[in-house]
Amino acid sequence: MFEKLKSEITVLIENSKEVNQTLTSICDALKSKIPHYDWVGFYFKNDKKRELILGPYAGKPTDHSTIPFGKGICGQVAVSNKNFVVPDVQAQDNYIACSLEVKSEIVIPIFVKGENIGQIDIDSNTLNPFSKADETFLEFICTKVATLL
Ligand code: SME
Repeated sequence: MFEKLKSEITVLIENSKEVNQTLTSICDALKSKIPHYDWVGFYFKNDKKRELILGPYAGKPTDHSTIPFGKGICGQVAVSNKNFVVPDVQAQDNYIACSLEVKSEIVIPIFVKGENIGQIDIDSNTLNPFSKADETFLEFICTKVATLL
């Protein structure tokens, strides 16, 4: 599943005409083809305001279109520069709930010239669904996306 999607996403990126449109297509592809991905979105940093701004996404609309650095899983990744895999969101103190259905989350930072400029955020309605394979796959996606930015 991941290998086929990697080629699909590579083609989307190679044929990209408009960044946000391509990012939306990536979100749609991931959400529709990976059963445990229920919400897929990008957040990008506004370093001046020290907050993340919601970019293209697929899934239910969220109230969290801006997230201060340090707040929630996403805000923590903005400062840690590290992948954050959350098998059970209820076990996290510093978590921002988007929907009561969400049980787990994975956030992978996007680096451009070595700098963390944003992230891909995936919510799942399944408990503990993410493996090392998800992390490796999403790191690949983030590296590819970085070439557009
Ligand atoms: N749960 C995230 C907030 C963003 S929503 O999942 C779309 C967090 O704790 O940072």
